[in-house]
Amino acid sequence: MAAAGSAVGLGNIWKFPYIAGENGGGAFLVVYLLCVALFGLPLVMTEFLIGKRSGKSAYGAFRALNGNNRWQWLSWMCMVTAMLIMGFYFVVTGWCFNYLAEALTSAFSGLNADALTEHFATVTGNTPRMILFALLPVLLTAMVLWFDVNKGIERLSKILMPLLLLMMLLMAGRVLMLDGSNIGMRFFFQFDFSKITPKVIMEAMGQCFFSLSIGMGALITYGSYMPKGQNVPRASIQVIILDTLVALMAGVIIFPAVFAFGFDPQEGPQLVFVVLPAIFEQMSFSWLSGVLFFGLLCIAALTSTISLMEVAVAFVCEASAQTRHPLSRRQSVAIVSAGAVVMIILCVMIPAVFDYSDWLTACILMPVAALGMAVFVGWNLPKNGEKGVLEADKGIKRWARKIYIFVLRWIVPVAIILIFLNSLGVL
Ligand code: TRP
Repeated sequence: MAAAGSAVGLGNIWKFPYIAGENGGGAFLVVYLLCVALFGLPLVMTEFLIGKRSGKSAYGAFRALNGNNRWQWLSWMCMVTAMLIMGFYFVVTGWCFNYLAEALTSAFSGLNADALTEHFATVTGNTPRMILFALLPVLLTAMVLWFDVNKGIERLSKILMPLLLLMMLLMAGRVLMLDGSNIGMRFFFQFDFSKITPKVIMEAMGQCFFSLSIGMGALITYGSYMPKGQNVPRASIQVIILDTLVALMAGVIIFPAVFAFGFDPQEGPQLVFVVLPAIFEQMSFSWLSGVLFFGLLCIAALTSTISLMEVAVAFVCEASAQTRHPLSRRQSVAIVSAGAVVMIILCVMIPAVFDYSDWLTACILMPVAALGMAVFVGWNLPKNGEKGVLEADKGIKRWARKIYIFVLRWIVPVAIILIFLNSLGVL
């Protein structure tokens, strides 16, 4: 449940529609689904197994498994990635809280497409307000980790996540009844081979890593908390299916609405924030719909920020234990929160930092770290005589082990390298 909470978040509902919209809709969708099929299962399983086998978070896992420091750079990459993601992720979570507050006060009701676009620009142009709204989720996330109430959050999201799905189903139903919604459906589902460019492939791969939370050690950390009897492949498949379902549903809600209301699918990061209020306007119980949806979205975002911050906190905690100044968990929470605040201020003040940290983490850092993990588990561990991370789940059948190792050794690294070369124009 925690891993599903980490996976399902703004990546599905905010980023997926806007990246798909910028990259040709249907063409992007097909490449994205191929990436999920290719990278999803092997890499989610790998992170879980590394964590479960070592019992350590992203900081100590690699060293614990192969007994030396040679792979420590991977841990540091995870930490850097976590801090970079936190900056823009908290900012966008702040947008969600802002829209929740505005839904409560009906601040955007009755606005048309142009006015909604302008409204977004006005709201996000208010720097102090945006910083304040981004600090709110930092505080909430830090409180969850400080008081160690992760379990409670998990139980809560067990109820709220199905509610979010139900809400999205209702919204999809409403949107599909709008005039012109079929144009959006065609945009999202019609595959046009000519629209597949190296950029589309690269962004689809990045979105796959970002949405599934792979390549940052989050699932290593969660794997280390797994009970012994946990079935890793089954848990992995559940996370992947749920995550993909939510992304698809977000597309089915956003694109028909984009075309029905006369928005532009290439709006960029503001896409869902200008389209969603227009959808609520069309729904019966529009005030309640808006409040409920933005409320659930804030909670979905928080279960993701918890995983982001947890990686960094566990890292600081374990890393400092090696020094003369070991830090407690709570001290680590304070330090990481302070770091997150710095990142937020940079993201709000300098737009390039916002854009760049998103792209850099999803398209470069996470794929490179995942490549490293695949090589580590596929090639390095067996060479060192370690029986391998598969010992963490004795339930996996022999044939499945063979396929898993083969995919990890050859398919995953070769695919990632080919996509990199392709986008550099080498292929
Ligand atoms: N997967 C989350 C989303 O789709 C974002 C996220 C949370 C994440 N934790 C992560 C991404 C760790 C990469 C690594 O919104």
